Amino acid sequence: MRIDNLAAPQLSELWSLREDTCVESDGEAGTLTVQSRWGSVEFEDPDPALRMALERMTLGPVSLSNVLPGFPGLWEVDRPGGHDPAVSRLLHDLDRVRDSLVRSLALGGTPVLSVVPLARGAWFTPRPAPSDRPCRLSRFTVMRWAEGGLRLESPLAHHRVQLHRSEAVLLLGMLDGSAQGGGPRLDPELAGTAIGYLLAARIAVVAEDGPDGAAASPPRFAEDEDPRLVGWSPDDLMVHSRSRLGRTDGAFGATLAHLDAGRAEPVVKPLAGRPPITLHRPDLDGLRTRDEPFTAVLERRHSVRAYGPEPLTEEQIGELLFRACRVRPDDGGGSTGFAWSSRPYPSMGSVYALELYLVAGTGTALAPGAYHYDPLGHLLEPLEAQPADTAELRLGAQTALGADRPPPLLLVITARFRRATHAFSGIAYTSLMKDVGVLLQNLYLVTTAMGLAPCALATGNSDTAARAFGLDWPVESSVGEFVVGVKPPRTDPDAT
Ligand SMILES: Cc1cc2nc3c(=O)[nH]c(=O)nc-3n(C[C@H](O)[C@H](O)[C@H](O)COP(=O)(O)O)c2cc1C
Repeated sequence: MRIDNLAAPQLSELWSLREDTCVESDGEAGTLTVQSRWGSVEFEDPDPALRMALERMTLGPVSLSNVLPGFPGLWEVDRPGGHDPAVSRLLHDLDRVRDSLVRSLALGGTPVLSVVPLARGAWFTPRPAPSDRPCRLSRFTVMRWAEGGLRLESPLAHHRVQLHRSEAVLLLGMLDGSAQGGGPRLDPELAGTAIGYLLAARIAVVAEDGPDGAAASPPRFAEDEDPRLVGWSPDDLMVHSRSRLGRTDGAFGATLAHLDAGRAEPVVKPLAGRPPITLHRPDLDGLRTRDEPFTAVLERRHSVRAYGPEPLTEEQIGELLFRACRVRPDDGGGSTGFAWSSRPYPSMGSVYALELYLVAGTGTALAPGAYHYDPLGHLLEPLEAQPADTAELRLGAQTALGADRPPPLLLVITARFRRATHAFSGIAYTSLMKDVGVLLQNLYLVTTAMGLAPCALATGNSDTAARAFGLDWPVESSVGEFVVGVKPPRTDPDAT
């Protein structure tokens, strides 16, 4: 393909409405209502030009100069003032629904790229890209395929950019941040205009001035030095932006969008069929009278990273798991194939996607190896894990603890992701992180009440865990770790 053949002079701007926006006309009252995901905007006495513009925009991208002769072209439209009264009125009216307006840059009448608002009140005011400054994609921008096309998104942007034609993809090669701009060259007018759109959408960024007012050499970009942003990884910031309301237009919340009884995971993971170990059940009534008061346990809770010589007993393991995370048999239910249960720790939407696996070494009464905890039967099911994999998991825990030997018992928390992804949209993964947090706190408090040595861990290897426990990584893999042992003798109860 010859790139210079792609150059064409007929650049224009087309306007349309987000697909989830509808325009309702009340014939009797003469009002026009624009209903969007952010609410409704009513025009009491709409100008005929506005009525026609909105009606045509619901059908697809339209040139507003076909609706209102004299409607300004590229760049002119966003220039404040100086328009004739009919144009000013239309622009003023459109500004009231700006967060529903999709603006497309077109070449020969067909869109090259479109800028779609994602947030209430999103502003889009494109300017031509400065010809004397290098530009580049923001380091937070990602390109991916969704719903039939390529799109550019950034957690910092209140818009996303849909790429419709190959010119738009070629444009990306020019946005490598170098003074020359890499990749094949597009027609300068098209490139400058399209990059101007990406800059206004906060998908691309422009280089800073040097001390002499010219572009700094080598190019410097403000986002690389912004103290509010330097510590953010693009992945973390994207998860944050997409798991909170405000700058996402995806399905959101407890949508049950992927719920279908055939695919829903059962609330309790079925046992694989190996002979299980029946765990000790503590006497809860006895504990109610014997236990240290709640405030004393809360105040005494600390992480402990040293262990005594005695092994953790099966009774202690049974008591810990029973008190912290069993299924409470007197509660539970569910309908439409999405059963739920009740346990001593809370779970968003009662989803209970978390599973516990035990990795025992020397220092517990269990035989060294890996076990899966069945919270309904309060059983341990031995797994056929490779010793090399369990050793790697234990070594990882030792490293995270900064200890000189592996901890007696490692609890690996996994998530059966489909429990959460079938229930939630946008918040499925973060719901699991929150559930991990509350489970960790339960494990901390119960181990503290039992006088054991607890510590949560920040890191763990999900691939090794999947291998050790026989898991299919995207379906179930590890999301948290906790270690426990017997406290060393004669230590201060608060010793860490
Ligand atoms: C989610 C989480 C992860 C943690 N990861 C580690 C870890 O990898 N290594 C470690 O030694 N302590 C870890 N900790 C323990 C914290 O360092 C500890 O809670 C913190 O220093 C406060 O001390 P305290 O628990 O004794 O009150 C973690 C704690 C939490 C809640």
